[in-house]
Amino acid sequence: MISQETVPASLDDVKGWFPKIDQLLFTWFLERQERLGQRGDLVELGSYLGKSAILIGRHRRADETFTVCDLFDSDAPDDSNQMEMDGSYSSLTRTAFERNYRAFHGGLPEIVQRPTAEILDHVEPDACRFVHVDASHLYEHVTGDIEAARVMLPAEGVVVCDDYRSEHTPGVAAAVWESVAVKGLRPICVTTQKLYGTWNDAEPVQDDLLAWLGERDDIWHEVQRVGGRRLIRVKGRWTTKSEVQKLKDRLAHTEDRLAGARRELDDVRRSVSFRVGRSFTALPRALRGRDDDTP
Ligand SMILES: C[S@@+](CC[C@H](N)C(=O)[O-])C[C@H]1O[C@@H](n2cnc3c(N)ncnc32)[C@H](O)[C@@H]1O
Repeated sequence: MISQETVPASLDDVKGWFPKIDQLLFTWFLERQERLGQRGDLVELGSYLGKSAILIGRHRRADETFTVCDLFDSDAPDDSNQMEMDGSYSSLTRTAFERNYRAFHGGLPEIVQRPTAEILDHVEPDACRFVHVDASHLYEHVTGDIEAARVMLPAEGVVVCDDYRSEHTPGVAAAVWESVAVKGLRPICVTTQKLYGTWNDAEPVQDDLLAWLGERDDIWHEVQRVGGRRLIRVKGRWTTKSEVQKLKDRLAHTEDRLAGARRELDDVRRSVSFRVGRSFTALPRALRGRDDDTP
């Protein structure tokens, strides 16, 4: 990872949260829409330093608009949201986003530097084909963002919701699964980090996805059912950076415990009571040894 001031040479150099499996799936979904001649604008709610925006922007066709909506360095609309911003994105600036984006594209997307609650003032209903929801983690905001995605997308559009199951984002999980359970959102597939859905029939896109997954040795998948509907789970077969880090952390923790146990053992061996105990057991052993020598 390079610092925010350096111009990135590849997507790996851009700080953010956009795993490789989701990079592959975004590309697959956007290319499928292009193959099927589906036209429409692209929207991202929550762009941070541009990691996912840079990839989405590659799929904007000449007559399409790509809009990103992020507070960047502006104030959040409420205190809870401001706490999130201060905690997770304190070094974020619009300048850094723009520098990163320009490193991969000739121009910038449409930038709405406002709360996502205002996105419908900037994007027309039914105008889009792909919306990435990745802004606030608070339930009240995420329900609004998913509802806005439903308004912006026509039936065949695709919405991707980030952090739908992470331990640190229960508000997102509540909002996403509520949309599935009671508001007609049909999940197509899930990865560790993102849920891909539509308000249309998910089966045709799932059939195409399963055909593609069947040809990929590097991607694992299984089919589950949720509420009677098919849901595809997708995972990369490679070891991710966070998995390597977790293994390293576990190894370091085990080594620490082992070193502690060795120190305790040495302390016991050096203790007076241990030495006295040994001399008591040594005497009978010596006597027994003499008896054993007797023919
Ligand atoms: C998880 S990050 C986005 C990550 C990004 N998509 C990536 O690939 O790295 C969330 C972003 O949402 C923005 N954000 C948080 N609350 C917001 C709100 N109410 N309105 C607009 N943007 C918001 C933050 O500024 C931050 O940049």
